[in-house]
Order: sequence, then structure tokens, then C-alpha cells
Amino acid sequence: ALVSLRQLLDHAAEYNYAIPAFNVNNMEQMLAIMSAGHSTDSPVIMQASRGARSYANDIVLSHIIQAAIELYPHIPVCMHQDHGNSPATCLSAITHGYSSVMMDGSLAADGKTPTNFQENVQVTSKVVELAHMVGVSVEGEIGHLGSLETGKGEAEDGHGFEGSLSRDMLLTDPEEAETFVSLTNVDALAIAIGTSHGAYKFTRKPDGEILAMDRLQEIHARIPRTHLVMHGSSSVPQELQDIINDAGGQIEPTWGVPVEEIQLGIKSGVRKVNVDTDLRLALTGAIRKTFALNPSEFDPRKYLMPGREAMSKVCRERYEQFGTAGHA
Ligand code: G3H
Ligand code: 13P
Ligand code: NA
Ligand code: ZN
Repeated sequence: ALVSLRQLLDHAAEYNYAIPAFNVNNMEQMLAIMSAGHSTDSPVIMQASRGARSYANDIVLSHIIQAAIELYPHIPVCMHQDHGNSPATCLSAITHGYSSVMMDGSLAADGKTPTNFQENVQVTSKVVELAHMVGVSVEGEIGHLGSLETGKGEAEDGHGFEGSLSRDMLLTDPEEAETFVSLTNVDALAIAIGTSHGAYKFTRKPDGEILAMDRLQEIHARIPRTHLVMHGSSSVPQELQDIINDAGGQIEPTWGVPVEEIQLGIKSGVRKVNVDTDLRLALTGAIRKTFALNPSEFDPRKYLMPGREAMSKVCRERYEQFGTAGHA
């Protein structure tokens, strides 16, 4: 059944687990995520970025997610807008049946310019007011995703801001987070602790210098009842990098967010963990491997089915690792 993000995260908080939010662009990803949710008995969050909505078409994508709900009526499913850039984006998601929206007011509607606190509060409050009228949840964001190694804040297109930002400009300020939540009444809060989107998060295994888990704990101590969201939380497993590279790909050496750090975060209020890159790597690796072993193959089902299986395996692992399994 379709449920709101708030319903899922309240339950997760009560039982001390988190739910991975997987990005969806197509049927293969939906089927992979749902089959993992089914086999581990997990509640499911599927999220669509603005890019996903324009890639797959709004009508097609919302029907793909409706199909998931029809196929697995016993699994609670939240359908979430990832990184909404404006009230208009969030409202159009709601008209297409989404049960949750992210209003990312940390950036202006251009997806590039960092906003100030007041602008963020204003745009987020507006979305909360409207969304809550129809039972839709809202995720806000305070702070700027980006790298503590380079000081590059992250624009929506994955490219850095001009210039470099200090640690304090990038990371979420605990006091601001507290004020933001009380002024906006968001259901969940995305925070910045040094993660970034995509495969190239860290040039070495992250320690406290470049992944600020201490900051997360300070935020949780101030707002213990707020559901926290970790973005940029793919683990970028070495074995998935190897599968791609062994089959002719070129992924440069890189590190993601170790699962054990996310598990630490779950002890400090993290209830939603955004994962996109790991499924992209799994799908691409399986397709490359199929072609490497059988260059004459041209039936898309023959390489997309291994791709689905590889994505589903990642989803099953995250459902187990984040404690989601068994809570559907
Ligand atoms: O926000 C980042 C997610 O990985 C979605 O990426 O905007 O390329 O669909 P996308
Ligand atoms: P990854 O690129 O680490 O998978 O992050 C996805 C994300 O944060 C989507 O909002
Ligand atoms: Na989101
Ligand atoms: Zn994100």
C-alpha cells in the first residue's frame, strides 16, 4: 500500500532502524527493489529525482510505481520526490501521486546557488503547509552536501560551486537545524556531514576528518525526535568497481560511505539513507560482464535480467544492514 514517509520513519524510529531510499528511473530498478523488499520483508522507499521524472516521463514513472504497489499489496511503499527544487516541482509530484516530497531549499531553484537560512525556511514552510493539507510528508535540507577534502559544495548537477567552502560553511549547524525544524515543521531533515553524490566521494577510506559523524551526533543530541536523512550514502563497494573495471570499464579508485558508519548513524537518529550510485554500479557491472562473456548477445532481456539480479542483491544487503528487514 502507498504510505507517507512520516508513517515509515516514525516506525523506524520506534524500532531503531533506517530505511534505504533507492532512486528509480525505470522498470528494471523498480522490480529489483520490490523483489528485495519482498524477500526481506522490508518497507520500501522509492524516490525519483527531477532527472528521473523527465527521463522516464511523469506518467510512465508514476505508473511504474503504482505497478509496484499493485504487485506487492502487503509491502508499505513510499513514493518520494528526491531533491525537489521548488514548490512547483513538489506540487506536481503530489498531483502524480507521490506520498512524500523533498523540498531542497539549501539551493536556489537553479539547483546551483546556495540559499541563506531565511530563504530556505520560507520555501520549505510553504511546501510543508501545502503538502500536509493532503497527508504528504516533506523532507527538508539544511547545510550543503559536498566534500570536506576539496571544500567543494555540490550543486544539483553534481558539479561543484565556484570557489571552496570552509568546513563550517558546508556542514549542518546543529543550532540552525533545531531552529529550521521548529520553524518549518518538516517530517525529516537531510543533513550535510561531508558526503556528496555519485561514485567519487572520498579519495581514501573516510575517517572523522572527512566524514563528520561527530557532527551528526551533535545534531541528534539537539533534535532527538527529528528523523535524519543521509544523502550521498552509497558505499561504492570495491567488488562492484572491480566487476566494471574487469569488463573494460574505467572507474577511478574511490571510496564511498562505509556501511558501518551508516550503522553508527542509525544509532544517532538516521532513518532514511539515500542510495542511487550503488544500484547504478551494480546494473552497469552486470551488463558489462554479460557483454564481456558473450559479445554476440543482443537481446536486452539477457543483460537486463542479470542487471536486475545484481541491483536486487545490493538492495537485500542494505535492508539487512540497516535493520529494515522484517519490518514490512
Ligand atoms: O540526487 C542525486 C541522485 O543520485 C539522483 O541523480 O539527478 O542524476 O537522477 P539524478
Ligand atoms: P549516492 O550518489 O551516494 O547514491 O546518493 C544518492 C542520493 O543522495 C540521492 O538523493
Ligand atoms: Na530525498
Ligand atoms: Zn541526495
